Amino acid sequence: MRLNQLVLRNFRNYVDCEIDFKDGVNLIVGENAQGKTTLLEAIYFLSTAKSHRTYLDDELIRYNESWFYLKGAFVPAISGEEARREAAAVNLMTVEVSNELNGKKRFKLNGTLQKKLSQWIGQFNVVFFSPESLALVKGAPADRRRFVDRLISQISAAYLHHLQNYQFALKQRNELLKQIRSKGASVELLDAWDDLLVADGIALIQARAKVLAQLKVHTQAKHADLTGDSEKLDLTYQPLLDGADRAMASDMDDQFRRALQSSRHFDIRRGTTSVGPHRDDFKLVLEARSAGTVYRQEARSFGSQGQQRTIALALKLGELELLREETEETPVVLLDDVFSELDEARSAFLFELLRRLNAQTFITSTRQEVWTPDLGDCCVFTVQDGKVR
Ligand SMILES: Nc1ncnc2c1ncn2[C@@H]1O[C@H](COP(=O)(O)OP(=O)(O)OP(=O)(O)O)[C@@H](O)[C@H]1O
Ligand SMILES: [Mg+2]
Repeated sequence: MRLNQLVLRNFRNYVDCEIDFKDGVNLIVGENAQGKTTLLEAIYFLSTAKSHRTYLDDELIRYNESWFYLKGAFVPAISGEEARREAAAVNLMTVEVSNELNGKKRFKLNGTLQKKLSQWIGQFNVVFFSPESLALVKGAPADRRRFVDRLISQISAAYLHHLQNYQFALKQRNELLKQIRSKGASVELLDAWDDLLVADGIALIQARAKVLAQLKVHTQAKHADLTGDSEKLDLTYQPLLDGADRAMASDMDDQFRRALQSSRHFDIRRGTTSVGPHRDDFKLVLEARSAGTVYRQEARSFGSQGQQRTIALALKLGELELLREETEETPVVLLDDVFSELDEARSAFLFELLRRLNAQTFITSTRQEVWTPDLGDCCVFTVQDGKVR
């Protein structure tokens, strides 16, 4: 899919803005605090129903206003301007999101209100690399889980369904644990929630094991390219249930059930569920050479700033390859402030990759000169105070 047109109303510092984009590279240039990141955030929101930098949708509403509205018009990714125009006339897809202060988000696909998030996610996919992506390496397990969950949800509506069910059951179970502690509710009531956690939880673990194995291959390849083969990256799934990634579903069922059983008393005391895929993680280990010695260390604590940034980028490029492989569509690529910490060789590889990729790409930068020679044919948009030229 290609984003043809974007409309923003009362979205952060945008009042009312309509922009027509083109295929290939769209370069978004402007000084600090003018609204560059906000444009990418709007595109990301249309794809995922979330912002990449806040949980609070109301923060996205322009100061002193009570709602925001976003619209995107998409066309199929067909090469050739004329063929594309023809296809666009029949296959145009419009997505609209509105959000009211203290109210609900509403989604429309081609004018029809969508009731379920699972009907929305995966309609058109984006890969977003931003300064926040560093959290994939440096952040908490929850940051990496969010990445994995979002990635698999874009590929599989069934996964999103299991995830939502699991999260619902988890919330209910935690609520019940607190009631057992404070009001002496019956412990047996936990059984029903345990059943649900096990059923949906195992589906999550299996999907994560499969997708992380695929992601590892793609990410390693991109990382080797970015570092000119001088460093090696390893990615391993770390399910909270030991060995769950290798076990058969039936064994896992048993194992998860027993783990929930044996942690019951601990869980009641703490009022929260301590075992299950809601505590999963994946580990990133970097093998590099320093002063003639090869060392293997966890990237989170030992990697340099540039190494960590490179790993985060490799993960995002791995995500891109995986989405292409699984959906047979090239996602829209969003790059926010990407080159500020990459050295020349790594930047050159990224330029080369973008050229070969033939994806619609949005890049923000505070300076245009640095870019235009390397990017070849690209469309430049200047952002100033929430207005785009
Ligand atoms: N809810 C809001 N209402 C109005 N303005 C907002 C809101 N949220 C953020 N802003 C402002 O929007 C402006 C644009 O922010 P944005 O992050 O898009 O800037 P940017 O162009 O990416 O800057 P930088 O180069 O520093 O990254 C900022 O001045 C910010 O303070
Ligand atoms: Mg910015």
